[in-house]
Amino acid sequence: AMKGAIFDLDGVIVDTAKYHYLAWRALANRLGFEFTEADNERLKGVSRMRSLQILLEVGGMDADEAEREQMAELKNKEYVDYISRLESSELLPGAKEYLMFLRSRGVRIALGSASKNAAFILERLGITELFDAVVDGTKVAKAKPDPEVFLTASAELGLDPADCVVFEDAAAGVEAAKAAGCRVVGIGSADILGAADQVVGGLDALLP
Ligand code: G6P
Ligand code: MG
Repeated sequence: AMKGAIFDLDGVIVDTAKYHYLAWRALANRLGFEFTEADNERLKGVSRMRSLQILLEVGGMDADEAEREQMAELKNKEYVDYISRLESSELLPGAKEYLMFLRSRGVRIALGSASKNAAFILERLGITELFDAVVDGTKVAKAKPDPEVFLTASAELGLDPADCVVFEDAAAGVEAAKAAGCRVVGIGSADILGAADQVVGGLDALLP
């Protein structure tokens, strides 16, 4: 049975994946190339600097360390502009209800996100208190598909990864969760998340 539940943030709990995409696309356009939603799938779940590296690959561009720092900062500034206006209405369908349902069943809950903006987003949405542990991009060194984020989250919950279920919308996240030894529920389309143990369209589908 599930003793712990570990949730990715962007694209699972809150509809911020679109803002990451808009901010990355704006950067690409500024650099002079197109960046499609299909290209963007490769960035989901991936850390900020690794995302930038993939984006530059797509544009066939090179940049030195200082330039990359600057580009990442520009993207993040635009992204933070979006999320500082985030509303509760942008919580994904069933997300808050499912967290509350699991809590009522005694399941321990962690966040497992690559984002350095995660704590800010949880505060902004008023859902920080629903989590027993928050593991985010400020706490982990290795980006998904490395299992570090989910191993750390299960450890912070005091649970064996095998007793935890991970909820993920990104292929890299599903891979990371499997590598950690967790069960994985993919949130989105089976075409992209085929490696998950189960795929649903949204957390609302899991409510009783
Ligand atoms: C999540 C998102 C990625 C994002 C990463 C880092 O995993 O799915 O798209 O690049 O977090 O987010 P940050 O807010 O730190 O730039
Ligand atoms: Mg995600």
